Amino acid sequence: MRSHYCGELNESHVDQEVTLCGWVHRRRDHGGVIFLDVRDRDGITQVVFDPDTKESFATAEGVRNEFVLKIVGRVRLRPEGTVNKDMATGQIEVLGKELEILNAANTPPMQLDEHETVGEDVRLRHRYIDLRRPEMLQRLRFRSKVVNTVRNFLDENGFLDIETPLLTKATPEGARDYLVPSRTHPHRFFALPQSPQLFKQILMAAGMDRYYQIAKCFRDEDLRADRQPEFTQIDVETSFMDEEGIMSIMEALIVKVFATHLNVDLGEFPRMSYAEAMQRYGSDKPDLRIDLELVDIAEQMKSVDFKVFSGPANDPECRVAALRVPGGASLSRKVIDDYTDYVGIFGAKGLAWIKVNDLSAGIEGLQSPIIKFIGEDVVSKLVDQLGAETGDIIFFGADKTTVVNEALGALRLKVAADLGLVKDIWAPLWVVDFPMFEADSEGGLTSLHHPFTAPSCSAEELAANPANALSRAYDMVLNGTELGGGSVRINKPEMQQAVFKVLGIGEEEADEKFGFLLNALSYGCPPHGGIAFGLDRLIMLMTGASSIRDVIAFPKTQSAACPLTDAPGAVSSKQLRELNIRLREQAK
Ligand code: AMO
Ligand code: AMP
Repeated sequence: MRSHYCGELNESHVDQEVTLCGWVHRRRDHGGVIFLDVRDRDGITQVVFDPDTKESFATAEGVRNEFVLKIVGRVRLRPEGTVNKDMATGQIEVLGKELEILNAANTPPMQLDEHETVGEDVRLRHRYIDLRRPEMLQRLRFRSKVVNTVRNFLDENGFLDIETPLLTKATPEGARDYLVPSRTHPHRFFALPQSPQLFKQILMAAGMDRYYQIAKCFRDEDLRADRQPEFTQIDVETSFMDEEGIMSIMEALIVKVFATHLNVDLGEFPRMSYAEAMQRYGSDKPDLRIDLELVDIAEQMKSVDFKVFSGPANDPECRVAALRVPGGASLSRKVIDDYTDYVGIFGAKGLAWIKVNDLSAGIEGLQSPIIKFIGEDVVSKLVDQLGAETGDIIFFGADKTTVVNEALGALRLKVAADLGLVKDIWAPLWVVDFPMFEADSEGGLTSLHHPFTAPSCSAEELAANPANALSRAYDMVLNGTELGGGSVRINKPEMQQAVFKVLGIGEEEADEKFGFLLNALSYGCPPHGGIAFGLDRLIMLMTGASSIRDVIAFPKTQSAACPLTDAPGAVSSKQLRELNIRLREQAK
């Protein structure tokens, strides 16, 4: 229908006749002349109707915002003084000749520039209008282009795009499953995949050598800004390649995506062990745009009278650490109290601090609620050890290691954001040498990654000392977000059994849940490994969006519902009967 997109018109089209199709972005009546800003996927062009073209002028009088129009007209330069520098097509306008209303529109529930004030529920309920906003259109277009680059890169490197089932068995990735009842097999359920993990490994056993998929994954877990119940992975698996090979080609993929679409050179990614990341940043996804670091001070605190510090300092399961923040001495009491509440979310029982108001004044120049507890001597040593300077504040955490890491790790991010200490750079890294297992709340062990990740030790060593075993897993982290994670896998049934055993999965259960995988491993499964990137997170970071909901066309709300379709919805009793399901009264 159209000859040009609205956004592509410029001075080179002057005097050409064009046909535009699009939506009325704005309509202005200027005493005898009607201006329509017409919008399509590419941009906005101003169209003018004057009374000389009688019929079209009359039609133009009747159009309203978001009507869909077809316009034939001639491009002309805007008159002197009416050029709009803020508009891509601001040099020109179209003198409208023919105007056809292709469809009318009700008054929209929100103006396109009002999205911030209307609330997300309205935006999601009327997503077709929200997505008309240029910002949203651009993000989805950007996403499409990035996916194209990813596909081309993987295709050029010999990866085959292979689909795996959505109606399948549970894949353990640490979340709850979405279940689908089977009609043909009463009392049995499919699970939607939390990832294609098992299938991609089986494709390796099948000799596909290199696989990828832009894969939908489903996880019923607590939602946050960077988590959706249904999200997309760039999922990759390859045979006969070790962790070095996999990390190197996957790094090249991400470098290529940034170079192509943001003109950014990410350079070579540094590597850091999990242990070092926890030690220095209290996190396994450290944001390296921030220079602040956690420093261990247990040695200094072992013999102080203050039990809050000396207790943890002498307990191997605890940590006493300090975080020095340049410029923090100016923080008010109120702000420090807020930070104390904030670390409380992570279980910290307090937040001790020392302000260095004047380093040259010695102990007189320091201000702190804990000097009286730990003594001037120790305080001076601490100030020395941390290299504190006038104007700094030092925060302290003393507790179980996990509490201190989480609390000070989170405080580090928050204080840096509040004080403008986050550098405007891209900071990627690989985190490696993860532990195989972590302690669960019942005193057992669970996989830190997933149970199919290979340990970097033998099966005997694993059985002897599982808590200390390291894995061959790697995470790619960008600006403090976990962009992707993967590992070299177990490819022998004995090792897989050994890991199941540590996890407390008995032979019978292993056979029932993963027998098909164990079988596949026992018929000549090559060494293999892979990775999955969160596509939504990648696009969120690249576009600067604050939530992955803004880079997904039809996302779910925080409570995992879709306001547009009203899913999840009720089903008829006939459907339930066919599925052999009887609903219980809802617990009050
Ligand atoms: P993992 O569970 O680490 O690994 O997931 C890989 C990446 O997927 C993204 N991601 C999510 N994005 C949005 N919403 C979610 N709920 C969500 N959960 C995860 C993250 C994460 O880094 N099978 C393994 C991969 C492998 O070993 O190859 C897996 O799924 O960016
Ligand atoms: P209190 O003796 O409870 O008044 O604590 C003295 C100071 O130590 C206060 O600033 C508390 O916020 C801080 N504090 C208490 N418990 C801890 C802890 N576990 N880690 C760090 N600081 C703490």
